[in-house]
Amino acid sequence: MHLKELHIHAFRNLQQCSLRDLGQFNFIHGRNGSGKTSVLEAIHMLSLTRSFRSRQVASVVNFDAPALMVRAQLAEAAGQDTRSLGIQRGRDKSLLLKYDGERLRSFNDLAGLLPVQLINPDSFLLFEGGPAERRQFLDWSVFHVKHLGFYGEWTRYRKALKQRNTLLRRGKLADALLSPWEGEIAQTGAKITAMRRAQFERIADGFADIVKQIQRDIGADAAALSQQHFTMRFHSGWDDAEGELGADALRAALVGSREQDGRQGFTRLGPHRADIRFLCGGVNASDVLSRGQIKTLVCALKLAQCRLMREQGLDVVLLVDDLPAELDRERRRALFSLISTMGIQLFATSIAEDDLDDSWCGASGCVTRFHVEHLAVGG
Ligand SMILES: Nc1ncnc2c1ncn2[C@@H]1O[C@H](COP(=O)(O)OP(=O)(O)OP(=O)(O)O)[C@@H](O)[C@H]1O
Ligand SMILES: [Mg+2]
Repeated sequence: MHLKELHIHAFRNLQQCSLRDLGQFNFIHGRNGSGKTSVLEAIHMLSLTRSFRSRQVASVVNFDAPALMVRAQLAEAAGQDTRSLGIQRGRDKSLLLKYDGERLRSFNDLAGLLPVQLINPDSFLLFEGGPAERRQFLDWSVFHVKHLGFYGEWTRYRKALKQRNTLLRRGKLADALLSPWEGEIAQTGAKITAMRRAQFERIADGFADIVKQIQRDIGADAAALSQQHFTMRFHSGWDDAEGELGADALRAALVGSREQDGRQGFTRLGPHRADIRFLCGGVNASDVLSRGQIKTLVCALKLAQCRLMREQGLDVVLLVDDLPAELDRERRRALFSLISTMGIQLFATSIAEDDLDDSWCGASGCVTRFHVEHLAVGG
């Protein structure tokens, strides 16, 4: 779904602020420290109950308030019918989620409601950071395609893995103890791997297409980013023979690694160790590509994922924080012309009002502009 209205209360410096008449392209500008990133953070919290800047909710709740609240009117991109989605999070870690007047009981109920993708100054970590960043990237789209049931499988997997690790740490390696948990890890782990692999392959196809389009538009970077130099591969976290093997093979691998896992005190293989490897000229891409090239590729990857989700019937919202820091004018133009054909809703921030040109998105007047200092009442 897309946002039609957004109401924010006690979220960092934003005491009370409303954005109405939201369109496809929404641009938030204002001075340093005025609350631009906080608006994007609020949308992100509505989508996944957490901030992208801080793990601790106490740092996000306004200093003088006991709880923050974010509420939005959502609608299908093509429709008018709106439904309300709201979140309240307290300093005491309380969480209340409501959709269409009903309280949501499980995180899984958020799947598919408001898929939000983020491009910000930390996005290069997709290449330069650890595998957890890349698993999060991939799992985001698997999670939102609700009928796949990823969250349920992942929850069962995590629980079984925790039990196995506890037994390993206590030196309890008897077959009768480990076997039930390994069975559960294998069943759920094979399903998780199959979902991730299928989604990855589709993202990789779309990615090649998008990179070509960006290169055509900006006419640069062609050598380093060409397909023969740049490759990416999915690693399942265990040897599944490129997707040929399933639960039985994972179970056998776990049984075979009991002793060594026991010595280490944790499970060394499985989907919790999955990764995506980006290579350029056969070596780690982050060791050769420039920061600008990495940013372009990260944008292309994220857009490829958004496009796939559109094909899977989901309306995606893209947040781009600090637009000029992420993309020069050429890349911005290329990115926006792509987005305008993809039906994604965009929220972008910048200090200067003229960092986003209407002509990049279609006709003049197609960008809805908000000055964050004018939105905040009592902020
Ligand atoms: N819990 C909080 N309560 C009150 N104010 C806060 C809290 N957390 C952060 N702030 C303040 O809120 C403001 C919002 O910061 P934000 O990062 O959204 O600004 P910004 O417009 O994105 O700035 P920049 O252009 O520097 O990126 C800052 O002035 C910050 O000091
Ligand atoms: Mg900011």
